[in-house]
Amino acid sequence: MTILVTGATGKVGRQAVSQLHAQGHDVRALVRRPSGLPGEIPGDLTDAGSVKQALDGVDKVFLVWPFFDADNLAPVLEAISDRHIVYLSSSGEPPWALAAEALIEQATPRWTFLRPTGFAGNALEFAPEIKAGDVVRAPFGKMARPLIHEYDMAAVGVLALTEDGHAGKKYELSGPELVTQIEQVQIIGDVIGRPLRFEELSPEQAKADMTAAGWPQQLIDSALGAWAGMLETPEAITSTVEELTGRPAKTFREWAEDHAADFRA
Ligand SMILES: NC(=O)c1ccc[n+]([C@@H]2O[C@H](COP(=O)([O-])OP(=O)(O)OC[C@H]3O[C@@H](n4cnc5c(N)ncnc54)[C@H](OP(=O)(O)O)[C@@H]3O)[C@@H](O)[C@H]2O)c1
Repeated sequence: MTILVTGATGKVGRQAVSQLHAQGHDVRALVRRPSGLPGEIPGDLTDAGSVKQALDGVDKVFLVWPFFDADNLAPVLEAISDRHIVYLSSSGEPPWALAAEALIEQATPRWTFLRPTGFAGNALEFAPEIKAGDVVRAPFGKMARPLIHEYDMAAVGVLALTEDGHAGKKYELSGPELVTQIEQVQIIGDVIGRPLRFEELSPEQAKADMTAAGWPQQLIDSALGAWAGMLETPEAITSTVEELTGRPAKTFREWAEDHAADFRA
C-alpha cells in the first residue's frame, strides 16, 4: 500500500511521513522543494495536475490542506478520486474546515476526519522572543487549551490509513490537559533551564502586531474572537487519542521536551 502525505514538511505531515516510514509503509511526501524526507515527490496543492502526477500508484492520502478556504480543493479531490482520504480538519468547526469536509464527503465515502484542538506546536510562535530574551508577549495569558502534540494527530492518522474500520469517522482529538499560555511559557522555561516571563498584551495591541505581521484581517478577528471565547469556555478534552492508540495523549511538557532545541538560541 502506498500513501501520499501532503503538507509533508509541516508539523503534522512531517510526523505522518516519519511514522509511516518507520512502520515500513511505502510513503510519498508531497513537497514544493527538496526537503530530505523519505519518498519525496514534487507537487503543489494549488496545481491539481502536479498532485495527480504524484498520485500515480498511490492507494490512500493523508490530506493537510493548509489554506483558510477550500476554494481550490475540488480539482485536487477529483485527482484523488476514490482513494481513502484522512483529512486534517479542526475542532470548533471553522468555516474553511467545514467547507473542506463537505467537499470531501461529496467526493467520496472513503474519508476519515481528524478534528484536533489547538496544536502544542502553536507555541513555536514564542520561539523568536524566547531566543532573544526572557519575556513572551501575547494576549489572553489565562486562556487554557488542551494542546495536542503533532505526534498524536499523526499517530491517529496513521491508524486510520493502515487499519480497517475508520471510514466515515470524525475524530475529535485533544491533548490530555488544559494549559494556559502563562503555564506554557513557564513549562518551556523549565525545560530549557531558563526563567521566562509572560507579559499580557491587550487584544488591541495583539491586533496591531498581527496586522503588522501580515495576518489577513478576517483571520485576525476570528482568531481573537475565538481566543476570547476560550477564556470562558475552553475546548473539550477528549480521550480519543488514548482510545485509538492505546496510550495516553502526550502532555505539553512532553511536547516542550521534544522541541527544546527550537527554543534555544
Ligand atoms: N494550529 C492549530 O492550532 C490548528 C488547529 C486545528 C487545525 N489546524 C489545521 O492544521 C492544518 C495545518 O497543519 P500544520 O500545522 O501541520 O501545517 P504547517 O506546519 O503550517 O505546514 C503547512 C504545510 O503545508 C505545505 N504547503 C503550504 N502551501 C502549499 C502548497 N501550495 N502546496 C503544497 N504544500 C503546501 C507547507 O509546505 P512548505 O514547506 O512548502 O511551505 C507545509 O508542509 C491547517 O489545515 C489548520 O487549519 C490547525
